[in-house]
Amino acid sequence: MKVEHAKPKVGSKVTIDKADFLSGKYAEEIQALLVERSALHFPGLFLEDQEQVTFARTIGEIVKQGEDQELQYITMDSKISSVADYTRGAFYWHIDGANDPYPAKATMLSARVLAEEGAGGDTLVANTYASYADLPADRKRALEGIKVRHALEATQRYVNPTPSAAELQRWQSRPSQTHPLVWHHRHGRPSLLLGATSFYVEGMELAEGNLLLAELMDWATQDEYIYRHKWSEGDFLLFDNTGAMHRADWYPLDSKRLMRRTTLHGEEPVLVLENA
Ligand SMILES: [Fe+2]
Repeated sequence: MKVEHAKPKVGSKVTIDKADFLSGKYAEEIQALLVERSALHFPGLFLEDQEQVTFARTIGEIVKQGEDQELQYITMDSKISSVADYTRGAFYWHIDGANDPYPAKATMLSARVLAEEGAGGDTLVANTYASYADLPADRKRALEGIKVRHALEATQRYVNPTPSAAELQRWQSRPSQTHPLVWHHRHGRPSLLLGATSFYVEGMELAEGNLLLAELMDWATQDEYIYRHKWSEGDFLLFDNTGAMHRADWYPLDSKRLMRRTTLHGEEPVLVLENA
């Protein structure tokens, strides 16, 4: 297994023999590298669906959706995916499952159809362990204890700013979650927990809270923390979802871009409630 870093603080290209990749031989190394680098690009694997599932099982437990589906289609085409509308929320920085007590551990994508040349569709991953680590000490202290409400409504308002009451009710029927702004992980490295699911800062004036979230988002999405993946045929991209945010770069809603996604169950809750 050969590892080349894309940027000092985020992203690595991993060259690996396909049989080794599928066997789980390097599963431990890959997981350690993932938390350190946020995004791992495996070029030239040309994974078929079953191979993606086989690999995913070597590093975690797959989130099944619908009728036991271990892979989802990511596309803007509502004829292929019934959740294409929700997928438009992925144009904004987010973590998967932020509205759950256990956000996903990691997400992986295989390119099936690339976006048309020059039409966008890169995948961006921001390392929020690194952006937290670089905050001044007094800022870190000030963020302790701050909690943020995460809800689907927040994400969907980017896509549809004028929902009907029926739409709003549908969004609000989905789980929402209060998480600390700083996620203290078991392994000891804290990360910032931000993204489009952030609805409001609890116990803070709305305007003040929104400003805080925007300041931190500005900080966390500085170029040095971002890995930008430009897709090629056969690519497989694995990204961390505990100390990283991701988003899709803009591409036309009628694009043929098609991805196969697999998501892994979270293994660590964000918040242990004080009164639990
Ligand atoms: Fe996502």
